Amino acid sequence: MVGARSDQNLAMRILREPDFAARQRQNVIRLCEAAFAEDFGRLFTRRPGAMHLLAFQDEVLVGHACWASRRLRMEDRTDLAAAWVEAVAVDPLRQRQGIGSKLMARVAAEIRGATIGALTATDVPFYERLGWERWSGDAVEGRADEQLVPLTEPLMILRLPKSPASRPSGPVIVGVREPVVVDGGTLARSVPHLLEEPAG
Ligand SMILES: CC(C)(COP(=O)(O)OP(=O)(O)OC[C@H]1O[C@@H](n2cnc3c(N)ncnc32)[C@H](O)[C@@H]1OP(=O)(O)O)[C@@H](O)C(=O)NCCC(=O)NCCS
Repeated sequence: MVGARSDQNLAMRILREPDFAARQRQNVIRLCEAAFAEDFGRLFTRRPGAMHLLAFQDEVLVGHACWASRRLRMEDRTDLAAAWVEAVAVDPLRQRQGIGSKLMARVAAEIRGATIGALTATDVPFYERLGWERWSGDAVEGRADEQLVPLTEPLMILRLPKSPASRPSGPVIVGVREPVVVDGGTLARSVPHLLEEPAG
């Protein structure tokens, strides 16, 4: 029965992206694909150098989360150095046993040195219960091809000791690269201050 199994024997391990054996990568990808029912084949190439947290029960991989550094560019053109968390996944047969909460507690401890934690959430209440907050304001993402696209899921943040004293809000670009190319999207037009090159 889902939810019936104790998670007391949960063992966690952190690995940096280059240190994975091929089979470990496959196991992580398989777990994420089972949890999300979508393709995770690019997980390890998309964020080189990412840190991965793996959770095992009886040496079987049951949970995963990873994080990498990404910039959040604010309206005043200052950047927040975010720990960008993604691929938070628990084996579908072992969900609702507290494994996801334990994973995220460990993630929060590991990213404590970042300016802020950030992620996009399909399950907003799950993260809210763990202290994450919904971003207040328009959010777009600077993709690898330097186009700006609206985030498809709510942006959430975890305030950390180095975070600004007041809760950051307003228009934001996640993972901005220079130079920024605008594709004319609605959200991109709504954050014009973020798109201008600095004067001088
Ligand atoms: C979201 C996800 C990571 C949560 O993992 P999880 O291990 O199920 O998380 P938890 O068990 O810690 O908490 C989930 C819920 O189960 C409840 N729960 C925890 N232990 C429980 C138990 N023994 N019995 C019943 N319910 C329990 C929690 O209170 C929580 O409820 P709430 O979020 O509705 O308040 C997992 O469901 C998942 O992999 N989903 C698919 C992928 C996904 O959506 N990832 C997140 C992307 S944003």
